[in-house]
Amino acid sequence: MAYGLLKGKRGIIFGALNDQSIAWKVAQKAVEEGAVITLSNTAIAIRMGQVKELGEQLNCEVIPADATSFEDLEEVFKRSQEVLGGKIDFVLHSIGMSPNVRKGRAYDDLDYGMLSKTLDISAISFHKMLQAAKKQDAIAENGSIVALSYMAAQRTMFGYNDMADAKSLLESIARSFGYVYGREKKVRINTISQSPTMTTAGSGVSGMDKLFDFAERISPLGNASAEECADYCIVMFSDLTRKVTMQNLFHDGGFASMGMSVEAMSVYEKGMTK
Ligand SMILES: NC(=O)c1ccc[n+]([C@@H]2O[C@H](COP(=O)([O-])OP(=O)(O)OC[C@H]3O[C@@H](n4cnc5c(N)ncnc54)[C@H](O)[C@@H]3O)[C@@H](O)[C@H]2O)c1
Repeated sequence: MAYGLLKGKRGIIFGALNDQSIAWKVAQKAVEEGAVITLSNTAIAIRMGQVKELGEQLNCEVIPADATSFEDLEEVFKRSQEVLGGKIDFVLHSIGMSPNVRKGRAYDDLDYGMLSKTLDISAISFHKMLQAAKKQDAIAENGSIVALSYMAAQRTMFGYNDMADAKSLLESIARSFGYVYGREKKVRINTISQSPTMTTAGSGVSGMDKLFDFAERISPLGNASAEECADYCIVMFSDLTRKVTMQNLFHDGGFASMGMSVEAMSVYEKGMTK
């Protein structure tokens, strides 16, 4: 059911790769809620993934950009304002990748060149995005910018590797830039810390099936799906959250406040050897 929450708003969605992507669901819901949007992803993801189909489905332009390139990001904001006819009201950063995770390098055996790439793609790209937008004054007053994070920024999760460091940096950038952009332009910046979700990026995390199951058993409301994450993003883009900024918002069915649940304890008991 649509509520018209984004009627008349213009947005940019970074990171829709295929129909499992969280950004894919956000793009669909943003249009359902009355927004006009552009989509962006890397040239290779546009060639290999399904984002062009999403662009056709939603009747919106797909703009290639490597989020580690400041110039590419400048172009996305410039072109989006031209295509959409004015300043941008909301942006989703839904981008993450770790070459160390991909290559199976353990946390105590990181390749530092790869670590730099992880941080650049998954966190510093957010700063670049914000700086590119601010320099063009591309975001409308009361605009809302959201990046997706994960609980491993606060607590160690086996297998999440250097992405944990990237998420900590991402959340810190949201606070630091949130102060500057809020004070000067009334633009709000938040991160949403989402439950484990079965997507292309999610499936790359070692032991993801167990992490997913564990979180499902621990969380009183169960894991939040990609669709539910999209609903939360829409609320954060809407005028209903005008005074929320510089926050890391847990969207995880209650996981962040839990220690042990009866559902997890029963499984643990079964597995005990004595
Ligand atoms: N899946 C989960 O369990 C989970 C949980 C919490 C947070 N998140 C976060 O949600 C976000 C979206 O991930 P997803 O799970 O939807 O997976 P996904 O694989 O569908 O999306 C990741 C996106 O990042 C893009 N990307 C990678 N390198 C890029 C670059 N250099 N420039 C521009 N884009 C680039 C990919 O093309 C892809 O579209 C990520 O930040 C991820 O860390 C995911």
